[in-house]
Amino acid sequence: MKVLIVGSGYVGLTTGSALAYLGHEVTLLDKNEEKIMRLRDGEVPIYERGLSEVLDESKQNIQFISSWNDFDSNVDIVIIAVGTPNKGNGDVDLSYVETVAKSIGEKLDEKSNPIIVNKSTVPIGSARRVKSIIEDELKKRNILKEIDVASNPEFLREGEALFDTFYPDRIVIGTESERAKNSLLNLYQPILEQTFTPPRAVKRPEGFPLPSVITTSPTSAELIKYAANSFLAMKISFINEFAGLAELVGADITEVAKGIGLDKRIGSRFLNAGIGWGGSCFGKDTAAILHTASQYNYEMPLVEATVKTNYKQRELVIRKLQSELKVLRGATIGILGLAFKPNTDDLRDAPSLDIIRGLIELGANVKVFDPVAMENCKKQYPDINVIYTESVEELFEGCDGIVLVTEWEEFLHLPYQNLAERMKKKLIVDGRNVLDKELLKKSGIIYRGIGRG
Ligand code: UGA
Repeated sequence: MKVLIVGSGYVGLTTGSALAYLGHEVTLLDKNEEKIMRLRDGEVPIYERGLSEVLDESKQNIQFISSWNDFDSNVDIVIIAVGTPNKGNGDVDLSYVETVAKSIGEKLDEKSNPIIVNKSTVPIGSARRVKSIIEDELKKRNILKEIDVASNPEFLREGEALFDTFYPDRIVIGTESERAKNSLLNLYQPILEQTFTPPRAVKRPEGFPLPSVITTSPTSAELIKYAANSFLAMKISFINEFAGLAELVGADITEVAKGIGLDKRIGSRFLNAGIGWGGSCFGKDTAAILHTASQYNYEMPLVEATVKTNYKQRELVIRKLQSELKVLRGATIGILGLAFKPNTDDLRDAPSLDIIRGLIELGANVKVFDPVAMENCKKQYPDINVIYTESVEELFEGCDGIVLVTEWEEFLHLPYQNLAERMKKKLIVDGRNVLDKELLKKSGIIYRGIGRG
Protein backbone atom coordinates (compact mmCIF):
# COMPACT_ATOMS: atom_id res chain seq x y z
CA MET A 1 0.00 0.00 0.00
CA LYS A 2 1.04 3.63 -0.41
CA VAL A 3 1.50 5.18 3.00
CA LEU A 4 2.38 8.69 4.10
CA ILE A 5 3.67 9.04 7.64
CA VAL A 6 3.80 12.51 9.11
CA GLY A 7 6.40 12.97 11.84
CA SER A 8 9.74 11.23 12.00
CA GLY A 9 10.16 10.84 15.76
CA TYR A 10 10.45 7.44 17.45
CA VAL A 11 6.97 6.37 16.41
CA GLY A 12 6.97 7.70 12.84
CA LEU A 13 10.42 6.53 11.99
CA THR A 14 10.13 3.03 13.40
CA THR A 15 6.64 2.52 12.01
CA GLY A 16 7.76 3.87 8.63
CA SER A 17 10.84 1.69 8.40
CA ALA A 18 8.91 -1.42 9.50
CA LEU A 19 6.12 -0.81 6.97
CA ALA A 20 8.71 -0.22 4.21
CA TYR A 21 10.46 -3.42 5.24
CA LEU A 22 7.14 -5.26 4.88
CA GLY A 23 6.92 -4.04 1.29
CA HIS A 24 4.67 -1.00 1.56
CA GLU A 25 5.58 2.14 -0.33
CA VAL A 26 6.30 4.63 2.44
CA THR A 27 6.83 8.38 2.36
CA LEU A 28 7.95 10.01 5.58
CA LEU A 29 7.21 13.70 5.94
CA ASP A 30 8.82 15.86 8.57
CA LYS A 31 9.03 19.64 8.49
CA ASN A 32 12.51 19.46 10.03
CA GLU A 33 14.57 19.78 6.86
CA GLU A 34 17.87 19.00 8.51
CA LYS A 35 16.49 15.71 9.83
CA ILE A 36 15.12 14.81 6.42
CA MET A 37 18.47 15.55 4.77
CA ARG A 38 20.22 13.30 7.28
CA LEU A 39 17.70 10.52 6.69
CA ARG A 40 18.18 10.86 2.93
CA ASP A 41 21.91 10.49 3.52
CA GLY A 42 21.24 7.23 5.33
CA GLU A 43 21.87 8.70 8.79
CA VAL A 44 19.55 7.65 11.61
CA PRO A 45 18.83 10.58 13.92
CA ILE A 46 17.79 8.49 16.96
CA TYR A 47 19.36 5.62 18.81
CA GLU A 48 17.01 2.66 18.38
CA ARG A 49 18.08 -0.96 18.27
CA GLY A 50 18.09 -2.38 14.73
CA LEU A 51 16.71 0.76 13.12
CA SER A 52 19.62 1.57 10.84
CA GLU A 53 19.79 -2.05 9.65
CA VAL A 54 16.05 -2.21 8.89
CA LEU A 55 16.10 1.19 7.19
CA ASP A 56 19.03 0.09 5.12
CA GLU A 57 17.29 -3.12 4.08
CA SER A 58 14.14 -1.27 3.04
CA LYS A 59 15.56 1.90 1.50
CA GLN A 60 14.06 1.17 -1.91
CA ASN A 61 10.58 1.40 -0.33
CA ILE A 62 10.94 4.58 1.67
CA GLN A 63 11.43 8.22 0.73
CA PHE A 64 11.78 11.30 2.89
CA ILE A 65 10.18 14.68 2.24
CA SER A 66 10.05 17.90 4.23
CA SER A 67 7.23 19.77 2.55
CA TRP A 68 3.55 19.21 1.82
CA ASN A 69 4.30 20.46 -1.70
CA ASP A 70 5.89 17.08 -2.39
CA PHE A 71 2.86 15.24 -1.03
CA ASP A 72 1.29 12.83 -3.49
CA SER A 73 -2.42 12.83 -2.57
CA ASN A 74 -2.82 9.49 -4.28
CA VAL A 75 -1.97 7.56 -1.11
CA ASP A 76 -3.98 4.84 0.63
CA ILE A 77 -3.21 5.78 4.19
CA VAL A 78 -1.93 8.83 6.02
CA ILE A 79 -0.54 8.10 9.48
CA ILE A 80 -0.22 11.03 11.85
CA ALA A 81 2.71 10.46 14.19
CA VAL A 82 3.68 13.96 15.27
CA GLY A 83 4.44 15.05 18.82
CA THR A 84 1.71 15.73 21.35
CA PRO A 85 3.59 17.54 24.12
CA ASN A 86 2.25 18.39 27.53
CA LYS A 87 1.08 21.99 27.92
CA GLY A 88 2.41 22.04 31.47
CA ASN A 89 -0.95 21.58 33.22
CA GLY A 90 -1.36 17.99 32.07
CA ASP A 91 -3.39 19.03 29.05
CA VAL A 92 -2.09 17.80 25.71
CA ASP A 93 -0.98 20.26 23.05
CA LEU A 94 -2.79 19.10 19.94
CA SER A 95 -1.54 21.91 17.73
CA TYR A 96 0.87 19.75 15.70
CA VAL A 97 -1.84 17.16 15.03
CA GLU A 98 -4.28 19.90 14.07
CA THR A 99 -1.79 21.57 11.74
CA VAL A 100 -1.22 18.24 10.01
CA ALA A 101 -4.98 17.69 9.67
CA LYS A 102 -5.32 21.14 8.11
CA SER A 103 -2.52 20.44 5.64
CA ILE A 104 -4.14 17.15 4.67
CA GLY A 105 -7.43 18.99 4.08
CA GLU A 106 -5.64 21.55 1.92
CA LYS A 107 -3.90 18.94 -0.18
CA LEU A 108 -6.59 16.34 -0.84
CA ASP A 109 -8.62 16.68 -4.01
CA GLU A 110 -11.90 15.24 -5.32
CA LYS A 111 -10.31 11.95 -6.30
CA SER A 112 -8.08 11.24 -3.35
CA ASN A 113 -9.57 9.71 -0.24
CA PRO A 114 -6.92 8.13 1.98
CA ILE A 115 -7.66 6.67 5.37
CA ILE A 116 -6.41 9.02 8.09
CA VAL A 117 -4.85 7.30 11.07
CA ASN A 118 -4.03 8.85 14.45
CA LYS A 119 -1.01 7.08 15.85
CA SER A 120 0.17 9.88 18.09
CA THR A 121 -1.05 9.52 21.67
CA VAL A 122 -3.96 11.92 21.66
CA PRO A 123 -6.73 12.88 24.05
CA ILE A 124 -10.22 11.43 23.82
CA GLY A 125 -12.12 12.81 20.86
CA SER A 126 -9.08 13.57 18.71
CA ALA A 127 -10.09 11.21 15.90
CA ARG A 128 -13.31 13.18 15.56
CA ARG A 129 -11.43 16.47 15.74
CA VAL A 130 -9.03 15.45 12.96
CA LYS A 131 -11.93 14.31 10.77
CA SER A 132 -13.77 17.60 11.17
CA ILE A 133 -10.68 19.74 10.51
CA ILE A 134 -10.00 17.91 7.24
CA GLU A 135 -13.62 17.97 6.12
CA ASP A 136 -13.96 21.70 6.96
CA GLU A 137 -10.82 22.45 4.99
CA LEU A 138 -12.16 20.52 2.01
CA LYS A 139 -15.49 22.33 2.24
CA LYS A 140 -13.66 25.64 1.75
CA ARG A 141 -12.85 24.36 -1.73
CA ASN A 142 -16.39 22.99 -2.25
CA ILE A 143 -15.25 19.41 -1.91
CA LEU A 144 -17.90 17.64 0.10
CA LYS A 145 -16.85 14.25 1.21
CA GLU A 146 -16.64 12.16 4.31
CA ILE A 147 -13.16 11.31 5.55
CA ASP A 148 -12.52 7.93 7.15
CA VAL A 149 -10.49 8.24 10.30
CA ALA A 150 -9.10 5.61 12.66
CA SER A 151 -7.34 5.71 15.97
CA ASN A 152 -4.52 3.17 15.95
CA PRO A 153 -2.45 3.63 19.11
CA GLU A 154 1.09 2.30 19.31
CA PHE A 155 2.46 0.30 22.23
CA LEU A 156 6.14 0.56 21.32
CA ARG A 157 8.83 0.67 23.95
CA GLU A 158 11.77 2.89 23.12
CA GLY A 159 14.81 0.78 22.47
CA GLU A 160 12.56 -2.13 21.47
CA ALA A 161 10.33 -0.17 19.14
CA LEU A 162 11.02 -2.29 16.05
CA PHE A 163 10.63 -5.54 17.96
CA ASP A 164 7.28 -4.30 19.28
CA THR A 165 6.21 -3.25 15.77
CA PHE A 166 7.04 -6.57 14.13
CA TYR A 167 5.95 -8.76 17.06
CA PRO A 168 3.16 -6.94 18.90
CA ASP A 169 0.86 -8.51 21.52
CA ARG A 170 -2.09 -6.85 19.82
CA ILE A 171 -3.12 -4.26 17.28
CA VAL A 172 -5.94 -1.89 18.19
CA ILE A 173 -8.02 -0.34 15.44
CA GLY A 174 -10.55 2.22 16.61
CA THR A 175 -12.89 3.36 13.88
CA GLU A 176 -16.51 3.73 12.84
CA SER A 177 -15.56 3.11 9.21
CA GLU A 178 -15.54 -0.34 7.66
CA ARG A 179 -13.27 0.93 4.87
CA ALA A 180 -10.71 2.24 7.39
CA LYS A 181 -10.81 -1.00 9.32
CA ASN A 182 -10.21 -3.10 6.21
CA SER A 183 -7.43 -0.84 5.02
CA LEU A 184 -5.58 -1.15 8.32
CA LEU A 185 -6.10 -4.91 8.40
CA ASN A 186 -4.52 -4.97 4.95
CA LEU A 187 -1.65 -2.78 6.04
CA TYR A 188 -0.85 -4.96 9.02
CA GLN A 189 -1.60 -8.30 7.37
CA PRO A 190 2.07 -9.43 7.23
CA ILE A 191 2.38 -8.70 10.94
CA LEU A 192 -0.95 -10.24 11.90
CA GLU A 193 -0.13 -13.39 9.95
CA GLN A 194 3.67 -13.22 10.51
CA THR A 195 4.28 -13.95 6.84
CA PHE A 196 7.42 -11.80 6.48
CA THR A 197 11.03 -12.93 6.73
CA PRO A 198 12.28 -11.44 10.00
CA PRO A 199 14.89 -8.71 9.62
CA ARG A 200 18.36 -9.89 10.62
CA ALA A 201 18.52 -7.28 13.37
CA VAL A 202 15.07 -8.00 14.82
CA LYS A 203 14.59 -11.74 15.08
CA ARG A 204 11.20 -13.32 15.65
CA PRO A 205 11.08 -14.89 19.12
CA GLU A 206 10.71 -18.63 19.11
CA GLY A 207 7.09 -19.76 19.43
CA PHE A 208 5.78 -16.23 18.88
CA PRO A 209 1.96 -16.49 18.79
CA LEU A 210 0.03 -14.54 16.18
CA PRO A 211 -0.94 -11.11 17.50
CA SER A 212 -4.56 -10.36 18.33
CA VAL A 213 -6.37 -7.58 16.59
CA ILE A 214 -9.20 -5.75 18.24
CA THR A 215 -11.51 -3.29 16.60
CA THR A 216 -13.18 -0.70 18.77
CA SER A 217 -14.74 2.71 18.64
CA PRO A 218 -12.20 5.54 18.21
CA THR A 219 -12.88 6.68 21.77
CA SER A 220 -12.19 3.24 23.24
CA ALA A 221 -8.96 3.02 21.24
CA GLU A 222 -7.87 6.41 22.57
CA LEU A 223 -8.68 5.34 26.13
CA ILE A 224 -6.93 1.97 25.68
CA LYS A 225 -3.63 3.77 25.14
CA TYR A 226 -3.99 5.85 28.32
CA ALA A 227 -5.24 2.90 30.36
CA ALA A 228 -2.35 0.70 29.21
CA ASN A 229 0.32 3.24 30.11
CA SER A 230 -1.36 4.18 33.40
CA PHE A 231 -1.62 0.51 34.35
CA LEU A 232 2.04 -0.21 33.55
CA ALA A 233 3.12 2.89 35.47
CA MET A 234 0.89 1.81 38.37
CA LYS A 235 2.41 -1.67 38.40
CA ILE A 236 5.88 -0.14 38.84
CA SER A 237 4.70 2.27 41.53
CA PHE A 238 2.91 -0.58 43.28
CA ILE A 239 6.09 -2.62 43.59
CA ASN A 240 8.00 0.49 44.64
CA GLU A 241 5.47 1.16 47.38
CA PHE A 242 5.97 -2.37 48.67
CA ALA A 243 9.75 -1.95 48.32
CA GLY A 244 9.59 0.80 50.95
CA LEU A 245 7.78 -1.52 53.34
CA ALA A 246 10.07 -4.43 52.50
CA GLU A 247 13.00 -2.32 53.66
CA LEU A 248 11.31 -1.59 56.97
CA VAL A 249 10.32 -5.17 57.73
CA GLY A 250 13.53 -6.69 56.38
CA ALA A 251 12.21 -8.44 53.24
CA ASP A 252 13.79 -8.42 49.79
CA ILE A 253 11.45 -6.91 47.19
CA THR A 254 13.04 -8.86 44.33
CA GLU A 255 11.94 -12.07 46.08
CA VAL A 256 8.49 -10.62 46.73
CA ALA A 257 8.14 -9.59 43.07
CA LYS A 258 9.11 -13.07 41.95
CA GLY A 259 6.64 -14.60 44.36
CA ILE A 260 3.71 -12.54 43.15
CA GLY A 261 4.75 -12.37 39.49
CA LEU A 262 4.41 -16.11 39.06
CA ASP A 263 0.70 -15.72 39.61
CA LYS A 264 -0.48 -15.52 36.00
CA ARG A 265 -3.16 -13.03 36.96
CA ILE A 266 -0.41 -10.64 38.07
CA GLY A 267 2.46 -11.47 35.67
CA SER A 268 6.14 -10.93 36.33
CA ARG A 269 6.88 -8.05 33.97
CA PHE A 270 7.07 -4.42 35.13
CA LEU A 271 7.61 -5.46 38.72
CA ASN A 272 11.23 -4.29 38.98
CA ALA A 273 11.43 -1.98 41.96
CA GLY A 274 13.92 0.86 41.78
CA ILE A 275 14.08 4.57 41.13
CA GLY A 276 10.87 4.38 39.13
CA TRP A 277 9.79 5.21 35.65
CA GLY A 278 10.85 8.05 33.41
CA GLY A 279 10.66 8.67 29.70
CA SER A 280 8.38 10.60 27.43
CA CYS A 281 5.26 8.51 27.93
CA PHE A 282 4.25 7.46 31.43
CA GLY A 283 4.64 10.91 32.99
CA LYS A 284 2.92 12.70 30.11
CA ASP A 285 0.11 10.18 29.73
CA THR A 286 -0.74 9.89 33.43
CA ALA A 287 -0.83 13.71 33.63
CA ALA A 288 -3.02 13.84 30.52
CA ILE A 289 -5.55 11.30 31.75
CA LEU A 290 -5.77 13.05 35.12
CA HIS A 291 -6.42 16.26 33.23
CA THR A 292 -9.17 14.61 31.16
CA ALA A 293 -10.74 13.16 34.32
CA SER A 294 -10.70 16.59 35.96
CA GLN A 295 -12.68 17.98 33.02
CA TYR A 296 -15.41 15.54 34.02
CA ASN A 297 -14.98 16.33 37.71
CA TYR A 298 -13.89 12.71 38.12
CA GLU A 299 -11.22 11.59 40.54
CA MET A 300 -8.59 8.94 39.75
CA PRO A 301 -6.79 8.40 43.06
CA LEU A 302 -4.93 5.32 41.81
CA VAL A 303 -3.34 7.24 38.96
CA GLU A 304 -2.59 10.17 41.27
CA ALA A 305 -0.83 7.88 43.74
CA THR A 306 1.06 6.21 40.90
CA VAL A 307 2.59 9.54 39.96
CA LYS A 308 3.30 10.61 43.55
CA THR A 309 5.01 7.33 44.46
CA ASN A 310 7.11 7.45 41.32
CA TYR A 311 8.73 10.80 41.91
CA LYS A 312 9.38 9.96 45.59
CA GLN A 313 11.69 7.17 44.42
CA ARG A 314 14.12 9.71 42.97
CA GLU A 315 14.43 11.46 46.36
CA LEU A 316 14.88 8.11 48.05
CA VAL A 317 18.26 7.66 46.37
CA ILE A 318 19.49 10.91 47.87
CA ARG A 319 18.15 9.90 51.33
CA LYS A 320 20.12 6.64 51.04
CA LEU A 321 23.33 8.51 50.20
CA GLN A 322 22.70 10.87 53.11
CA SER A 323 22.13 8.07 55.54
CA GLU A 324 25.52 6.52 54.64
CA LEU A 325 27.61 9.62 54.01
CA LYS A 326 25.75 11.96 56.39
CA VAL A 327 26.88 15.20 54.68
CA LEU A 328 26.74 15.44 50.92
CA ARG A 329 28.30 18.89 50.66
CA GLY A 330 31.76 18.35 49.22
CA ALA A 331 31.19 14.64 48.59
CA THR A 332 31.75 13.24 45.10
CA ILE A 333 28.97 11.07 43.72
CA GLY A 334 29.23 9.07 40.51
CA ILE A 335 26.11 8.50 38.40
CA LEU A 336 26.25 5.29 36.41
CA GLY A 337 23.80 5.78 33.54
CA LEU A 338 21.86 8.85 32.39
CA ALA A 339 19.27 7.55 29.91
CA PHE A 340 15.79 6.92 31.33
CA LYS A 341 16.32 3.25 30.52
CA PRO A 342 18.88 1.13 28.65
CA ASN A 343 19.20 0.97 24.85
CA THR A 344 18.19 4.56 24.28
CA ASP A 345 19.84 7.97 24.48
CA ASP A 346 16.57 9.57 25.54
CA LEU A 347 16.69 11.80 28.60
CA ARG A 348 13.10 12.92 28.74
CA ASP A 349 11.90 12.82 32.35
CA ALA A 350 14.99 10.74 33.15
CA PRO A 351 15.35 10.02 36.90
CA SER A 352 19.10 10.74 36.53
CA LEU A 353 18.41 14.44 35.93
CA ASP A 354 16.35 14.91 39.11
CA ILE A 355 18.89 12.96 41.14
CA ILE A 356 21.78 15.00 39.75
CA ARG A 357 19.97 18.29 40.38
CA GLY A 358 19.12 17.19 43.93
CA LEU A 359 22.73 16.25 44.64
CA ILE A 360 24.11 19.49 43.23
CA GLU A 361 21.64 21.45 45.35
CA LEU A 362 23.01 19.71 48.42
CA GLY A 363 26.54 20.72 47.48
CA ALA A 364 27.83 17.40 46.10
CA ASN A 365 30.20 17.13 43.13
CA VAL A 366 28.67 14.93 40.48
CA LYS A 367 30.46 12.79 37.92
CA VAL A 368 28.54 10.89 35.24
CA PHE A 369 29.03 8.12 32.74
CA ASP A 370 26.63 6.72 30.15
CA PRO A 371 27.64 4.70 27.08
CA VAL A 372 25.26 6.57 24.76
CA ALA A 373 23.37 9.47 26.35
CA MET A 374 26.18 11.84 27.38
CA GLU A 375 26.22 13.78 24.12
CA ASN A 376 22.49 14.38 24.39
CA CYS A 377 22.89 15.52 27.97
CA LYS A 378 25.63 18.00 27.07
CA LYS A 379 23.51 19.39 24.26
CA GLN A 380 20.14 19.50 25.98
CA TYR A 381 21.19 20.45 29.50
CA PRO A 382 24.29 22.65 29.16
CA ASP A 383 23.38 24.23 32.51
CA ILE A 384 23.87 21.00 34.46
CA ASN A 385 27.22 21.24 36.17
CA VAL A 386 28.60 17.69 36.13
CA ILE A 387 31.87 16.08 35.16
CA TYR A 388 31.48 13.86 32.11
CA THR A 389 33.83 10.88 32.27
CA GLU A 390 35.16 8.72 29.49
CA SER A 391 35.04 5.37 31.25
CA VAL A 392 33.68 3.60 34.31
CA GLU A 393 37.22 3.60 35.77
CA GLU A 394 37.33 7.38 35.53
CA LEU A 395 33.84 7.59 37.03
CA PHE A 396 34.66 5.53 40.13
CA GLU A 397 37.94 7.37 40.78
CA GLY A 398 37.71 9.31 44.04
CA CYS A 399 33.95 8.86 44.52
CA ASP A 400 32.27 8.71 47.93
CA GLY A 401 29.34 6.89 46.43
CA ILE A 402 28.08 5.51 43.14
CA VAL A 403 24.44 5.42 42.08
CA LEU A 404 23.47 2.94 39.38
CA VAL A 405 20.65 4.73 37.56
CA THR A 406 20.38 2.97 34.19
CA GLU A 407 20.75 -0.80 33.98
CA TRP A 408 22.77 -0.92 30.74
CA GLU A 409 23.77 -4.51 30.00
CA GLU A 410 27.44 -3.55 30.25
CA PHE A 411 26.93 -2.30 33.84
CA LEU A 412 25.54 -5.60 35.08
CA HIS A 413 28.85 -7.46 35.25
CA LEU A 414 31.46 -4.78 35.80
CA PRO A 415 34.45 -5.75 37.98
CA TYR A 416 32.90 -3.86 40.90
CA GLN A 417 35.43 -5.17 43.39
CA ASN A 418 38.33 -3.65 41.42
CA LEU A 419 36.44 -0.50 40.59
CA ALA A 420 35.57 0.06 44.25
CA GLU A 421 39.31 0.20 45.03
CA ARG A 422 39.32 3.54 43.22
CA MET A 423 36.63 5.00 45.50
CA LYS A 424 37.09 7.02 48.68
CA LYS A 425 34.21 5.16 50.25
CA LYS A 426 33.02 1.87 48.79
CA LEU A 427 29.32 2.71 48.61
CA ILE A 428 27.05 1.61 45.77
CA VAL A 429 23.38 2.50 45.60
CA ASP A 430 21.80 0.14 43.11
CA GLY A 431 18.83 2.14 41.82
CA ARG A 432 17.64 -0.73 39.64
CA ASN A 433 18.23 -3.73 41.91
CA VAL A 434 20.29 -5.46 39.25
CA LEU A 435 23.57 -6.16 41.03
CA ASP A 436 24.51 -9.25 43.00
CA LYS A 437 24.25 -7.86 46.49
CA GLU A 438 25.93 -10.82 48.24
CA LEU A 439 28.91 -10.71 45.88
CA LEU A 440 29.35 -6.98 46.35
CA LYS A 441 29.06 -7.25 50.12
CA LYS A 442 31.67 -10.00 50.18
CA SER A 443 34.08 -7.67 48.39
CA GLY A 444 33.68 -5.13 51.16
CA ILE A 445 31.31 -2.85 49.28
CA ILE A 446 28.45 -1.17 51.11
CA TYR A 447 25.50 -2.16 48.94
CA ARG A 448 22.17 -0.34 49.10
CA GLY A 449 19.39 -1.50 46.80
CA ILE A 450 15.77 -0.39 46.77
CA GLY A 451 13.67 -2.50 49.13
CA ARG A 452 16.27 -5.20 49.57
CA GLY A 453 16.17 -5.67 53.32
C1 UGA B 1 6.13 2.84 27.39
C2 UGA B 1 5.27 1.58 27.23
O1 UGA B 1 5.95 0.45 27.77
C3 UGA B 1 4.95 1.31 25.75
O2 UGA B 1 4.07 0.21 25.65
C4 UGA B 1 4.30 2.57 25.16
O3 UGA B 1 4.01 2.41 23.80
C5 UGA B 1 5.23 3.74 25.32
O4 UGA B 1 5.48 3.92 26.73
C6 UGA B 1 4.55 4.95 24.71
O5 UGA B 1 3.50 5.36 25.22
O6 UGA B 1 4.98 5.41 23.66
P1 UGA B 1 8.73 3.38 27.16
O7 UGA B 1 8.39 4.66 27.84
O8 UGA B 1 9.55 3.41 25.95
O9 UGA B 1 7.38 2.59 26.79
O10 UGA B 1 9.54 2.49 28.19
P2 UGA B 1 9.24 1.28 29.18
O11 UGA B 1 10.05 0.13 28.77
O12 UGA B 1 7.81 1.08 29.39
O13 UGA B 1 9.89 1.85 30.52
C7 UGA B 1 9.38 3.05 31.12
C8 UGA B 1 10.11 3.33 32.41
O14 UGA B 1 9.73 2.40 33.41
C9 UGA B 1 11.64 3.25 32.31
O15 UGA B 1 12.19 4.35 33.00
C10 UGA B 1 11.97 1.95 33.02
O16 UGA B 1 13.24 1.97 33.61
C11 UGA B 1 10.88 1.91 34.08
N1 UGA B 1 10.57 0.55 34.58
C12 UGA B 1 10.09 -0.40 33.73
C13 UGA B 1 10.74 0.25 35.92
O17 UGA B 1 11.16 1.12 36.73
N2 UGA B 1 10.42 -0.99 36.38
C14 UGA B 1 9.94 -1.95 35.55
O18 UGA B 1 9.66 -3.07 36.04
C15 UGA B 1 9.78 -1.66 34.20
